[in-house]
Amino acid sequence: MLFAHRKSGHITGQGTSTWAVVAAAGSGERLGAEQPKAFVRLGELPLLAESVRRLEESAWVDAIVIAAPPGWEEPAILLAEELGCGKVSACVTGGATRAESVRLALAEVPEDAVVVVVHDAARPFLPEEVLERVLTALGEGWDGAVPGLPIADTVKRVEGDRVVETLDRSALVIVQTPQAFLAPVLRRAVELGEGTDCSSLVERAGGRVTVVPGDPRLVKVTTKAELELVESWL
Ligand code: C5P
Repeated sequence: MLFAHRKSGHITGQGTSTWAVVAAAGSGERLGAEQPKAFVRLGELPLLAESVRRLEESAWVDAIVIAAPPGWEEPAILLAEELGCGKVSACVTGGATRAESVRLALAEVPEDAVVVVVHDAARPFLPEEVLERVLTALGEGWDGAVPGLPIADTVKRVEGDRVVETLDRSALVIVQTPQAFLAPVLRRAVELGEGTDCSSLVERAGGRVTVVPGDPRLVKVTTKAELELVESWL
């Protein structure tokens, strides 16, 4: 396949082919901050800065589109400029749901893009190796690839407060971002509706998605304690 084991810019005449979409338009109410989650401080900078900087520095990513909360488009662009992130090509106003935000950002990704990597701004600690793993999997013929972690706890299905089933945890994974997809597959899938991640949309559209090892440091920041934990790793 064209993009297999290829780092950005290594195939001439192909243009910009691996695009990253950063979903940063959530309100982050659970953090209890005045500003949206992507603009809560992580060290000296807004949370959004860490993942954008890492995507900018990644050898696997050619260009970046950010979906920002309404009214925060300009601060997002200014932040990218301040960080010297020349790969940031556009910043769109996000939608009411994550899937809608991704849909709006994808409209800024050119038709000739080959691969789209979607990442949650709420997961600032983005290791280059995870990008490498999801993108390498696409080169092996999958429509999509997601990072996953095994589950240590026992998982039960409940109805109200009644336990109705104990699930086989060996067949379950916890899924993170970055999630990588063939661009045309993701474009079709996001037209189909809602989901808490992009993979669920692609699965529903009949796409073949594989899971690769994730990273515990890709924790999704939802509470102050998680923010402090990620801060301690920087
Ligand atoms: O709310 P949730 O935890 O699913 O958010 C995951 C990611 O999706 C976050 O980075 C958040 O900013 C983003 N998001 C978005 N647009 C929304 C809701 C969430 O871009 N409307």
